[in-house]
Amino acid sequence: MAIDGPAASGKSSTAQWVAGQLGFRHVDSGALYRAATGAAIRTGVPSAEWTPDFVLEQAQRVALEPRQTSFAPRIDGADVTEEIRGPAVTGCVALVAQMPMIRSWVNARVRDVATHFDVVVDGRDMGTAVFPDADLKVFLVADPWERARRRLVQRLGRRPTDDEIADETELLVRRDAADATQTVQARDAILVDTTALTQTEQVDRIVALARAALRTLREGVDGGS
Ligand code: C5P
Repeated sequence: MAIDGPAASGKSSTAQWVAGQLGFRHVDSGALYRAATGAAIRTGVPSAEWTPDFVLEQAQRVALEPRQTSFAPRIDGADVTEEIRGPAVTGCVALVAQMPMIRSWVNARVRDVATHFDVVVDGRDMGTAVFPDADLKVFLVADPWERARRRLVQRLGRRPTDDEIADETELLVRRDAADATQTVQARDAILVDTTALTQTEQVDRIVALARAALRTLREGVDGGS
């Protein structure tokens, strides 16, 4: 199952919940781009000097450790879940994500995991570039102001001011522009606009879609036997 959409559309948290409810594992493709970026940062070489070959070499230090319902990104064996969410990685990840060699590396890692486990994969192009035959494709969208507000509530743990939301909205819209080429809605993806949905409604809706897709698959198998 593939869940795609722009930054802060709630893909990762939704994918995590949905995977838990279905007994699948969540794979966060963005975490692989972030971990490759983190590995390059750890070398101390300034980002202006990074070549695709250099970043790909650093990416070899990245591994995904299977957990019960997800995979933890590791660099040189260390858990980097927190480190890769920091501003240093967020500031450089778009540069790395534009390198075709790194996109191929991420896509190969994600495909490899999906051959061994039932997965919910989230990203920008999972339903197009990586799993064109996914059993279910969802494309999540939400109004930029609402995405910024949710992100700030999560980060600050309180109600943000309008000025704070406006600043964050501007950053998000800039990130959307930087990621625009690789953010692609598959023609057969189901568009879910979460602007007016709570987290629970959003998850319930996607779990219902996933169960419907699984029923259709089973009927196909039974019908064919
Ligand atoms: O999803 P997240 O914001 O953690 O992704 C980090 C960055 O990785 C994105 O801003 C984007 O540049 C890149 N990315 C991508 N394709 C994906 C997932 C993430 O280009 N499938």
